[in-house]
Amino acid sequence: MDDAAKLVLNGQEYPLPVVVGSENEVGVDVSRLRGESGAITLDSGYANTGSCKSAITFIDGEQGILRYRGYPIEQLAEKARFPEVAYLLIYGELPNAGQLDKFRQDLTYHSMIHEDMKKFFEGFRHTAHPMAILSAMVTSMSSYYPETDEDDEYLNIVRLLAKTKTIAAYAYKKAIGQPFVYPQNSLSYCANFLHMMFSVPAEPYEVDPVLEDVLNVLLILHADHEQNCSTSTVRMVGSSQANLYASISAGICALWGPLHGGANQKVIEMLSMIQADGGDLKKYVDKAKDKDDPFRLFGFGHRVYKNFDPRATILRKAATNVLDRLGVDDPTLDIARQLEEIALEDEYFVERNLYPNVDFYSGIIYRAMGIPTDMFTVMFALGRLPGWIGHWKELREDPKGRINRPRQIYTGAVERDFVPVDQRG
Ligand code: CMC
Repeated sequence: MDDAAKLVLNGQEYPLPVVVGSENEVGVDVSRLRGESGAITLDSGYANTGSCKSAITFIDGEQGILRYRGYPIEQLAEKARFPEVAYLLIYGELPNAGQLDKFRQDLTYHSMIHEDMKKFFEGFRHTAHPMAILSAMVTSMSSYYPETDEDDEYLNIVRLLAKTKTIAAYAYKKAIGQPFVYPQNSLSYCANFLHMMFSVPAEPYEVDPVLEDVLNVLLILHADHEQNCSTSTVRMVGSSQANLYASISAGICALWGPLHGGANQKVIEMLSMIQADGGDLKKYVDKAKDKDDPFRLFGFGHRVYKNFDPRATILRKAATNVLDRLGVDDPTLDIARQLEEIALEDEYFVERNLYPNVDFYSGIIYRAMGIPTDMFTVMFALGRLPGWIGHWKELREDPKGRINRPRQIYTGAVERDFVPVDQRG
């Protein structure tokens, strides 16, 4: 391949360097284009824009490939535990036994939140969406653990990973009016979260290993997904040198939307609605295809995957296993399977490469685990933390890092004179 592309604009030729990634992805570097030609590139929704170079996650959307630091997602989901995947994403390599021991211990040791922070929960309405609580509490952490000159980045990363799950569980306890349950040092990361969610002081709670294992898989599958909306938001905010907590809190807000992480909640609401409406799947598939109808099949489609989402393949199997092992009979799983079957054969979905994504089956599993629907996106956020942190750290360590500041093509009014209010028509 030539080492430069060419752009011809108004008869003038501009050479544009070509950048090739380690998996042979090709990018045309336009970073000097405006300075040299006065023109910018326009790419609404950024579908063709690389915002950075990153060594964290590789996706091949055509082949359905997802790898964290080179390791296939299928192997990690089957063999790894979430803390070691978090370490891998943030620090670049799998931890050795000593490093993993220390990391796990630190994650356990820092699980409790400052007692004063518990008071914040009193101020939220009991109806507050847990994503609102999560984002507010994560920002608040920067008031307890500010970045200082002697700042220990490792410690702040550990605090964030360890305490966010406690905050998430407390948000749930707040919603159902139960007392907060403190973390227990003898439990693993996933078991500790389940303990804080489901323990009540009145009776002992044993963490079911089936739940612990499936939660581990879910968190790993969500742990990173390169430059998606929330991760790009974390990088955008982090590029102004905002602190870790503020940057991650911004990512949590971006994740909340139904086109992104909020889709898992929407999927279950949609499946329940279809079921309540008599299970007429064709009616809803037709609605999704109707351009005059705003209805979309939530859990279908992806900006990057145009063949299959490897995370959805893993979760499809996991959903069946978990429901069987827990003895849960959930009719929404049947509706989901039938909907998938109909959509996969429908010309509209085939032509547009619309396949079930990670959110299509995750909600069914969360529901079987006893996690309420409005907590689903919080679960996604817990999983995505290591990816966000890894990207924030990568950006901070980039010697060529600049504040992110896109351009625009202005389409508003041209210059005009101000007219005082009494002279306006
Ligand atoms: N149902 C019906 N039609 C759809 C759907 C859907 N779920 N998704 C895309 N389309 C159509 C869309 O109308 C468009 O049709 P046309 O070319 O005729 O105008 C075409 O497919 C391309 O869609 P798009 O909206 O331009 O694609 P995008 O890359 O901008 O959006 C998406 C990707 C995920 C936002 C979109 O597919 C969607 O809204 N899906 C439902 C929400 C969802 O499940 N989101 C979770 C994504 S996975 C978790 C994550 O990483 O966030």
